[in-house]
Amino acid sequence: MMDDRGLYLKAKEAMANAYAPYSDFKVGAAVLTAAGDIFTGANVESASYGATLCAERAAISAAIAAGVREFSAIAVAASGTEPAYPCGICRQVIFEFGPDIRVIVGADPDHLEAYTIAELLPHGFRL
Ligand code: THU
Repeated sequence: MMDDRGLYLKAKEAMANAYAPYSDFKVGAAVLTAAGDIFTGANVESASYGATLCAERAAISAAIAAGVREFSAIAVAASGTEPAYPCGICRQVIFEFGPDIRVIVGADPDHLEAYTIAELLPHGFRL
C-alpha cells in the first residue's frame, strides 16, 4: 500500500528528469490510481513559453494513455524550498477525474500537506 510519503518520493524521483532550462524550477508529480498503480510526470518547458507542460498534467496524461481514469491521489514535488501547489489549470485537470482526489504537497518528505482537489478548487467547472 502506497502512503503519502512513498507517493511524494516517486514525485521527487520524476522531478529529477524535469526539463526546465528557462525557469530552472523542476517539478515532478506522481499519481496513484484506484488500482494502486503509479504514473509519474515532470514539467516540460519550451522556448515558446506558453507551450510548457506542468508535471501534474504530464503524470495524468501518462495514466490516461495507459487506459487508467480512476485516481485516488497525486503528489507534487518541486525544486524550491516551499510546497508547490498545483497551478489553476492543473487543479481543473485533476478535478476532471473526481472531487475527492487527494493532493499531496510539501517542501520535503517530512513536511507533507494533503488536501482534496475540491478544497484546492472550490466550485470546479463541470460541463
Ligand atoms: N509547473 C508545474 O510543473 N506545475 C505547476 O503546478 C506549476 C508550474 C512548472 C511549469 C514551469 O515549467 C515551471 O513550473 C515554472 O512555472
